[in-house]
Amino acid sequence: MAHLLHIDTSLRAEGSVSREVGAAFAEAWRSAHPGGEHTYRDLAADPLPHVDPAALVARQSGGDPLERELVAELTAADTVLLAVPMYNFGLPSTLKAWLDWIAVPELFADQETGVGPLTGTRVVVVTARGGSYAPGTPRHPFDFQEPYLRALFGALGVDRDLEFVHAELTSAAVAPHLEQFRDLAAASLEEAHRVVRKLAAA
Ligand SMILES: Cc1cc2nc3c(=O)[nH]c(=O)nc-3n(C[C@H](O)[C@H](O)[C@H](O)COP(=O)(O)O)c2cc1C
Repeated sequence: MAHLLHIDTSLRAEGSVSREVGAAFAEAWRSAHPGGEHTYRDLAADPLPHVDPAALVARQSGGDPLERELVAELTAADTVLLAVPMYNFGLPSTLKAWLDWIAVPELFADQETGVGPLTGTRVVVVTARGGSYAPGTPRHPFDFQEPYLRALFGALGVDRDLEFVHAELTSAAVAPHLEQFRDLAAASLEEAHRVVRKLAAA
């Protein structure tokens, strides 16, 4: 049975662009997979604790119960949707905490073949950024979201099935100095909706 693991991380319960675009993906995915299972986790509302010394020691002996729960939730899914605001050029710390729990040695891919237990899992990352980090823009080198997630999911054996959808310039709606970019922001959001609908139906 198709199984979507959907993770929200925005601190904004209302008005969040990453939540909006992620929800559009989930809705289109449910239409395309009637009867599919949809597991939802909100890391802003219910943040995970950091991996602590005891949890690291427990990795030698079967793992902390929280680690086992999170790894089981991840490996049960065939599609993972991460809805991710840009905070200080990178990921929300709540998502980093989730990644620290699930990136356990047994999930890493074989270094020779690049294949691991998660190979074949599809990962869709929807980001929302106040500015633009697109190739060719001055802030492109400041994007520490996509390169980081590509590196980590690549090490976990997910590279071909990893998709990024960026809704950019979200601050143009509220910041007077970005007013000139409102049309670009609207176009970026519309394109993000179009792409997630297409990805969810594929
Ligand atoms: C703590 C914090 C840090 C932020 N840092 C950045 C940043 O480094 N670059 C950027 O373009 N926007 C930054 N923003 C703006 C958010 O990326 C933007 O509002 C985005 O739409 C948030 O996602 P959301 O709409 O899903 O809440 C920041 C916002 C907050 C609250």
